[in-house]
Amino acid sequence: MTMSPGSFATSWRTHRAGALRAADIGTPVVLGGWVHRSRNLGGIVFVDLRDIDGIVQVSFGTDWASAEAIAAAAAVGVESVVVVEGTVVARAEGTRNPEMGTGDVEVRATAIRVVGPATTPAIPVARGRGEKLAAEELRLRHRYLDLRRADLQANLVLRHRLMQATRAFLSERGFLEIETPILTKPTPEGARDYLVPSRVHPGEFYALPQSPQIYKQLFMTCGLDRYFQIARCFRDEDLRADRQPEFTQIDIEASFVSQDDILALAEQLVAALWRTAGHDVTTPFPRMTYRDAMERFGCDRPDLRYGLEIADHTEAFRGTSFGIATAAIAAGGRVRGIVVPGGAAWSRKQVDEIEALAKSAGAAGLLRVRRVDGKLDGPLAKFFEGSDPFIGGAQPIAEGALALFVAGADRVSSPALDRVRQECAQRLGLIPEGEQRFLIVTDFPMFDRDPESGALAAVHHPFTSPQVDDMTAFPDAPDRWRANAYDVVLNGLELGGGSIRTHDPAVQSRMFALLGIGEKAEQERRFGFLLEALRAGAPPHGGIAFGVDRIAMLLAGATSLRDVIAFPKTTAARALFEDAPTQVPPEDLADLHLGLRAN
Ligand code: AMO
Repeated sequence: MTMSPGSFATSWRTHRAGALRAADIGTPVVLGGWVHRSRNLGGIVFVDLRDIDGIVQVSFGTDWASAEAIAAAAAVGVESVVVVEGTVVARAEGTRNPEMGTGDVEVRATAIRVVGPATTPAIPVARGRGEKLAAEELRLRHRYLDLRRADLQANLVLRHRLMQATRAFLSERGFLEIETPILTKPTPEGARDYLVPSRVHPGEFYALPQSPQIYKQLFMTCGLDRYFQIARCFRDEDLRADRQPEFTQIDIEASFVSQDDILALAEQLVAALWRTAGHDVTTPFPRMTYRDAMERFGCDRPDLRYGLEIADHTEAFRGTSFGIATAAIAAGGRVRGIVVPGGAAWSRKQVDEIEALAKSAGAAGLLRVRRVDGKLDGPLAKFFEGSDPFIGGAQPIAEGALALFVAGADRVSSPALDRVRQECAQRLGLIPEGEQRFLIVTDFPMFDRDPESGALAAVHHPFTSPQVDDMTAFPDAPDRWRANAYDVVLNGLELGGGSIRTHDPAVQSRMFALLGIGEKAEQERRFGFLLEALRAGAPPHGGIAFGVDRIAMLLAGATSLRDVIAFPKTTAARALFEDAPTQVPPEDLADLHLGLRAN
């Protein structure tokens, strides 16, 4: 039996069950699949047979099937794998089911063979209308059953199509798919490494890659010109709904490119992927600098589906007798806030709940004032008696609106107001479902300074190039340097990020020094293989990486990365199905020259 394109016939079957249509009426078929449900109506037994294409109704009636076949069909347990033989017939008028792909037909079967009997499933695969899914933990524990569900299978099919579209798109443009090592050396992407002990080299460890960053740059120094990989990355970091410890990137690097070249490619790739899932995307995407994003939205990946922009209200508070605000201003801070239309109607308790979120994001509190019957109202109103700075100004407070302010350093007010803005949009129902607002954020700062230790850290990664104009203008103030780095954002989620790299080994060495890796010997020990390659003749180069899981999640309309990953980890970084991580016997540890410390 050859497997030809477009045909699913094999030695076991003639067709895939869920693919049968009216055009197949009259065809004798042999089908293999899972018993989704069965009903015994006395004279006739119906078996819903399921495979990856869907479900077809198979009937065993006294007019066409033997008593043995009917008895065997009646006895088979759900989720058993069976092979049935029969003929495709039209369903009788009035029994057609427009909700099923196969709803115009049924298979009148003459024989059934159970080839894979099933024990009682731990979680149901077939569900009644409106019946809820089993708890996620239980579904992850029994993932082999959960993955029998049509929704999850559809997600994996979509993911497959996205990967194929990626390969086609990039191959057509001369990008070579090259694999990079999994057992490697730490690659700084800002998370902790997963380490793998070496048995043959006592006391030495490999690291699993946080990304193929250094390798892809090495390819450019080799003259491979354009690289891509659908790369598995590993990061030991705090998990959230949009993060997994093990995830997949579409990783891209190209030589002799500028930021605009990479961003144009990125936009086209995103458009191609969205098209694969049936959505049109308009390019180019709007651009915004990091600075503007932080000023107007308090975050570097703003959700542009709604307004509620942040404005600077410092001037309104300057000169008032309101101590919290004036103290913050005197300390070099500002009073920033958002105006929420209709928010004046919110109860004190509702606003307290929003304040709690601002506090959890680091603010000391949330200052509030609203306009009722033309007048300012609320605890702050008395500071504005005789003057009303919120009639015009940066952002007027209209009738019925509520203004929420945070006083202090931007470092505190930005994350707090970002949180408040998102919450208010939710509560006001301002987030339109189905709308896609892409954005490219540029001009990220090169470094972040730890407020406690004063140490610099790379905002993107240490191989990103700083903007030359900033280095020239502020040679001694690296805090002020912007990077040639960019992110692609959709609806408040970071889809991808990248940068133009440093290809001058002397500049790269200086970057390491600014990051606290000043010693030549230390630089050589950690990154010697990159520095050597840069010294051997390196072209200007840059790239980007997209999160495949995040893209698949958005395009599948899923709310969790776990729904688009075959065997995901929980938020506690556990694989419930395989049961990993696990303890290992002491002798295995001894082989690896390791021992466990009793705590
Ligand atoms: P970055 O760290 O921004 O860049 O990662 C690129 C994209 O990968 C996705 N991503 C994740 N997805 C799921 N779970 C995670 N834990 C996770 N972490 C990141 C995001 C993100 O935008 N080497 C650079 C790229 C470059 O400079 O070319 C890098 O890895 O969608």
